[in-house]
Amino acid sequence: MNLRLVGPAETEALGHRLARALALDTAGAVVHLRGELGAGKTALVRATLQGLGHEGAVVSPSYTLIEPYAIGTRQVFHLDLYRLGDPEELEFLGIRELNPATDLVLVEWPERGAGFLPSPDLLITLDYDGDGRCAVLEPESPAGQAMLARLDAPGEPGR
Ligand SMILES: Nc1ncnc2c1ncn2[C@@H]1O[C@H](COP(=O)(O)OP(=O)(O)O)[C@@H](O)[C@H]1O
Ligand SMILES: [Mg+2]
Repeated sequence: MNLRLVGPAETEALGHRLARALALDTAGAVVHLRGELGAGKTALVRATLQGLGHEGAVVSPSYTLIEPYAIGTRQVFHLDLYRLGDPEELEFLGIRELNPATDLVLVEWPERGAGFLPSPDLLITLDYDGDGRCAVLEPESPAGQAMLARLDAPGEPGR
């Protein structure tokens, strides 16, 4: 699925759609977000977490690398691995405590954690596109496929 996001409000709207798609399934999910600095990965994660019902701030985990949230009954982990020196360091950050079967895991810069991350259900690639951004959403598992199908579930404001 290819989308053009003409401004920050459209990135936010995509996050809200993702949140609805994720909320319809109580199982865990792993989403990898690729794209260069400023492409909108954190903005998309922020809107997704807020769409899931998180009311506090969503800070970029650029230095903490992993930021945990409890949203409803769900454990959510937001990772930003830009400053990860070596994928093996994920072991010391408690990567084994994440349960991809039950938790929601959103990872910026997943390529830096290669080999030590749970495999993605959904791969989102964000890129600059003029003044706006574009997003490519690719399923990487049957669960990811179902998630994408739910993005346009009835009741969604169409676009
Ligand atoms: N669709 C869009 N068009 C233009 N600017 C956007 C869009 N979506 C987000 N932005 C802006 O781009 C920046 C993205 O920053 P951020 O989410 O921190 O990027 P990343 O996490 O990928 O480094 C923010 O300033 C945000 O307001
Ligand atoms: Mg970021």
